[in-house]
Amino acid sequence: MSSRLLDAHLNASDKQEEVTLRPQTLAEYVGQKDLKKNLKIFIGAALHRNEPLDHILFYGPPGLGKTTLAYVIANEMGANIHVASGPTLERTGDLAALLSDLQPGDVLFIDEIHRLPRIVEESLYTAMEDFKFSVMINRENGSRSLTLDLPPFTLIGATTRAGNLSSPLRARFGITDKLNFYDIDEIEQIVKRTARVFNCKIEDAAATEIAKRSRGTPRIANRLFRRVRDFANYKGKDEISVYDALEALQALKVDSIGLDDVDIRYLMTLIERFNGGPVGLETLANAIGEEIDNLEDVYEPYLLQIGFIDRTSRGRVASDKAYKHLKIKHQGTLF
Ligand SMILES: Nc1ncnc2c1ncn2[C@@H]1O[C@H](COP(=O)(O)OP(=O)(O)OP(=O)(O)O)[C@@H](O)[C@H]1O
Ligand SMILES: [Mg+2]
Repeated sequence: MSSRLLDAHLNASDKQEEVTLRPQTLAEYVGQKDLKKNLKIFIGAALHRNEPLDHILFYGPPGLGKTTLAYVIANEMGANIHVASGPTLERTGDLAALLSDLQPGDVLFIDEIHRLPRIVEESLYTAMEDFKFSVMINRENGSRSLTLDLPPFTLIGATTRAGNLSSPLRARFGITDKLNFYDIDEIEQIVKRTARVFNCKIEDAAATEIAKRSRGTPRIANRLFRRVRDFANYKGKDEISVYDALEALQALKVDSIGLDDVDIRYLMTLIERFNGGPVGLETLANAIGEEIDNLEDVYEPYLLQIGFIDRTSRGRVASDKAYKHLKIKHQGTLF
């Protein structure tokens, strides 16, 4: 069985699950303490002034709760949310259609905002800054520009790649915040919350075992929870014990810290074929047959976070911690 925990493509039941499990309020949203504290103030102040919230940009690895947070904010503001994604806004007209639907105070959420085509991105600048939108109308006797007045609204952008955003776009967000990996206690709370939503009992130790292998990522925690629940339900049990959790996690081949087969191939190739590095990401990606973007956006952030790799100017390097975890001898260390 493959242990690809990080597959970005959600199947239908995963998608449905994500919708069901989304917390609705800041109080229900676990973790990201500093971010939540600030948002509470910004939301309270905007409500007090009866104004929409400033535009917000969230960035960070997949599955940490950017989309969830956009819905929570709209809910806390008592605003409608309109949802779009960078690559689906192909033409300025697509954006015009979206903007012309906005009511005062609405939230417009654009996911993968780094993938907006340049021309669409540029037309967003005046919409964000002055709540005006210019469209070119092509007529037989030449084209002219028409400017539409927009109601005040809040744009929330989300991206896994803040570095790919142009600086003029980045500068137009009043609030820019990074989502961090969650600690084990926080993921444990999320697992227990998920169990409650699904009306399923879980032993504390079982929730801890799932949390330890979820790479600080709520989406992965929820996926592992579902698989573990399957193992318990198959045995006719309605409560998940720590034994069910361990049995399922072993069968799923999720390693003790949540690394999956791609992580392991990444590290083994870096260590065995490239002598621990430094090696360029492109060379490494070719050697293991994975896309560069996938490694950079999905896999490397966690490996960096746990100190298994370093990104140097000459390329990727495996750390002693990685050698130790994989039980590979490293010159100059005890292993
Ligand atoms: N802070 C949180 N508390 C509880 N559950 C959370 C939290 N953050 C995320 N989740 C859960 O994790 C799932 C994935 O979160 P979400 O879709 O918001 O991630 P994302 O950052 O938008 O990912 P992507 O970059 O892939 O779009 C959600 O369905 C939600 O159930
Ligand atoms: Mg999202």
